[in-house]
Amino acid sequence: MGAESKSQQGGFTVAIDGPAAAGKGTISRAVAAHFGFAHLDTGLLYRAVGRRVLAGADPVAAAQSLDPADLAAPDLLRTAEIAEAASKVAVIPEVRAALVDFQRAFARRAGGAVLDGRDIGTVICPEAEVKLFVTASPEVRAERRLKELREKGFETDFDTVLADVRARDARDGGRATAPMVQAADALALDTSAMGVDDAVAAAIAAVAARRGT
Ligand code: DC
Repeated sequence: MGAESKSQQGGFTVAIDGPAAAGKGTISRAVAAHFGFAHLDTGLLYRAVGRRVLAGADPVAAAQSLDPADLAAPDLLRTAEIAEAASKVAVIPEVRAALVDFQRAFARRAGGAVLDGRDIGTVICPEAEVKLFVTASPEVRAERRLKELREKGFETDFDTVLADVRARDARDGGRATAPMVQAADALALDTSAMGVDDAVAAAIAAVAARRGT
């Protein structure tokens, strides 16, 4: 289905990709709230699979049998241990394949959708009406993640978090299937240079321009 026919049916997809802790979540939630779109944090799907694998499940079987209850308490999925497990299961092509239909159906829902992840603009929704690639330097992202983790009561330090950020970047960007990469037609937003508030404004402006609103 082409972008035009999707628009005619009322669907409108915003694809937001980029590395961990670059500000994708904040930007995605703000864009979704501004335009009344639904939002899917696709990292949660991989995290839910990762959590099941940590509990002893087979990754492919876990991905194939994922159900909405697995995503019911997202905050429980936002730990460093589950993030690493998610990044590892995300390398497996059969795991990724099992999650494609759900993401595409979400993207095409009437009323508009924002999906954030690593491969939304390249693989899941190559025809998305708007594509953003949100980045920030590893040091800035590690600093943000450290603050978040400390606020949640986790004891850790900058060097550990920076090493985690770099390891995840290398794994997510270096895998053979659907690596994290900026789509050729994506708008790049570097949130280390501009700050998250300005990035939110730029993202909203990009969507508004495409919608003609
Ligand atoms: O966005 P996040 O930090 O919650 O994602 C956790 C991991 O899941 C990430 O390191 C790689 C994987 N992931 C992916 O491979 N593709 C996506 N679309 C989203 C996440």
